[in-house]
Amino acid sequence: MCGIYGIIGKCKNIDKVAINALYELEYRGYDSSGIAFLNTNKEIKVIKSTGKIENLEKNINNHEVSTECLIAHTRWATHGKISTSNAHPHTSENVAIVHNGIITNYEELKNKLNSYKFYGECDSEVIAKLMDYNLQRSKTALEAFCKTIKELKGSYAIECIVKGEYNTIFIARKESPIYVCKYKDTVIASSDLITFPKQTSTYFEVSENQICELKKSKIKFFDLELNEIKGTSKKYDINENKVSLNNYSHFMLKEIFDIPKALNDTMKKLESSDKLNIDLSRFEKVHFIACGTAYHSACVGAFMVQSLCGIDAQSHIASEWIDSPTLCNKNHLFVMISQSGETFDTILALKKAKQNGCICLSITNTSYSTLANLSDYVLPIVAGKEVAVASTKVYNACNLACLYLANKIKAERQNLELNLNDIKIDYNEITKLLNAEFEKEFANTLINYKTIFFLGKCEDYITAMEASLKLKEITYINSSAYPSGELKHGTLALVDNETLIIAYLTNANYTDKMISALSEVKARGGKVLLLSNQTLPKALVDYSIKLSSGNSSINMLLYSIIPMQKLAYYTAIKLNKNPDKPRNLAKSVTVA
Ligand code: F6R
Repeated sequence: MCGIYGIIGKCKNIDKVAINALYELEYRGYDSSGIAFLNTNKEIKVIKSTGKIENLEKNINNHEVSTECLIAHTRWATHGKISTSNAHPHTSENVAIVHNGIITNYEELKNKLNSYKFYGECDSEVIAKLMDYNLQRSKTALEAFCKTIKELKGSYAIECIVKGEYNTIFIARKESPIYVCKYKDTVIASSDLITFPKQTSTYFEVSENQICELKKSKIKFFDLELNEIKGTSKKYDINENKVSLNNYSHFMLKEIFDIPKALNDTMKKLESSDKLNIDLSRFEKVHFIACGTAYHSACVGAFMVQSLCGIDAQSHIASEWIDSPTLCNKNHLFVMISQSGETFDTILALKKAKQNGCICLSITNTSYSTLANLSDYVLPIVAGKEVAVASTKVYNACNLACLYLANKIKAERQNLELNLNDIKIDYNEITKLLNAEFEKEFANTLINYKTIFFLGKCEDYITAMEASLKLKEITYINSSAYPSGELKHGTLALVDNETLIIAYLTNANYTDKMISALSEVKARGGKVLLLSNQTLPKALVDYSIKLSSGNSSINMLLYSIIPMQKLAYYTAIKLNKNPDKPRNLAKSVTVA
């Protein structure tokens, strides 16, 4: 989703600093970018480009950027096509703004501002026009900005510069994050702490219903009545979020190979958060809510709680749950799972659960995120920054947090101390799976199939769903996951000798049923790749990946996905697709 950045103060090569920040925000996904600045004649200048940030960089090189006040943006199109006119910053005569979020009363405001000529289709443009309108009806730019913010509905993080206000950036936010920090002679604002200089250790979070005014070396906060208030600073080790490729060709591959470290660091952190001050024994039901890959972790969480604790647990897709009839009460625990902690649908689900008086615990890789801030409790994941759009190591680490939570609920229900020895991570098996060469080779075979189905039962079905999502999102090959017993109820009609079935079997209780499903496939000429800790009749299996037989199927949920994460990666490479930045997708989905 969109990324925003702003810098004010004395800074050598300010445009290069801003461009580097936009490169750091690239992971959010974008299709155009731009900057606006106040030049020495106190005029607003705007430079925008579609496509890669390199295009903007080249474009900027053709201009003189002489300023001490600059705002910058990466846009991920929602309202209006990808074009320079829809790219940010958006302007009116006296104003330039950048915006992350969606203005829902855009049409209504546009009607009010009918004396203005709108040049694009992007909802954000209305903010610039409204600010201009309010400037003419206010004593100060700060007052105008405050009026503007009060009229907006929807979600936003906004930075605004005003002609004549040479040294000021105005900032406000609702439901989209923005942080500010001081560094040497500059003050910086950004959607993500990752863009802050690595020497910074303190930042301010702009809260909702606040206006933040950045001046040279000064950060001021106001409430919406324009009373000056104190901002709250927070400490943070920025370096934790600075990542590099090392010797890997892509972040996705690096992040798959980071899995052992992500599990180890997460386990250490979970051990130290053992004092999670919450009575888990009293809950009658646990709801796990998330989106995408994190939703698959939610399925894992619900499966683990049901299996280990014998209480009701359910997983929900956040965007569905928020609009479904509310069937929950104060005796239900809600667990939200999110890598970024900024996923809009998951945040809305948390708000709905809280409105219903329920306790919310979040499992997140981003301790300073909106989700973490809004939750009653946080179970932290320490997977390190995940840059590739397709989530890998965080999925494994979230599953570990779910296993920890399920064991903790079980222990408390039995009035026992949690025994962390119950949570075993088989690093030997993980290393073996990481080092296997099979997936690289098999990618050559997989690219020949147009139809691929993933099969599994119960816990294996969850892994099958995640495997299918990984393959789809970075290779653009169409695949679906089915519970193995469900194939014969319709989808079998699609199986022929041009179909590849990738089947997961990690639980001996399901062997007979998997044999039936694969027999149905083989009778129609389908090809089978089996991932299992068991050996099935040769006639049913064309290719196989052996999983270790020493672990329970529940523990295998921590790593059985690895071969398919690798296969998706190597297939994308074979097809010449960039696995780190799949088309149409963003790392952090901050819109509904
Ligand atoms: C898929 C993927 C997405 C995210 C989803 C939720 O590989 O990464 O499906 O899992 O957008 O994101 P978070 O976990 O940040 O809430």
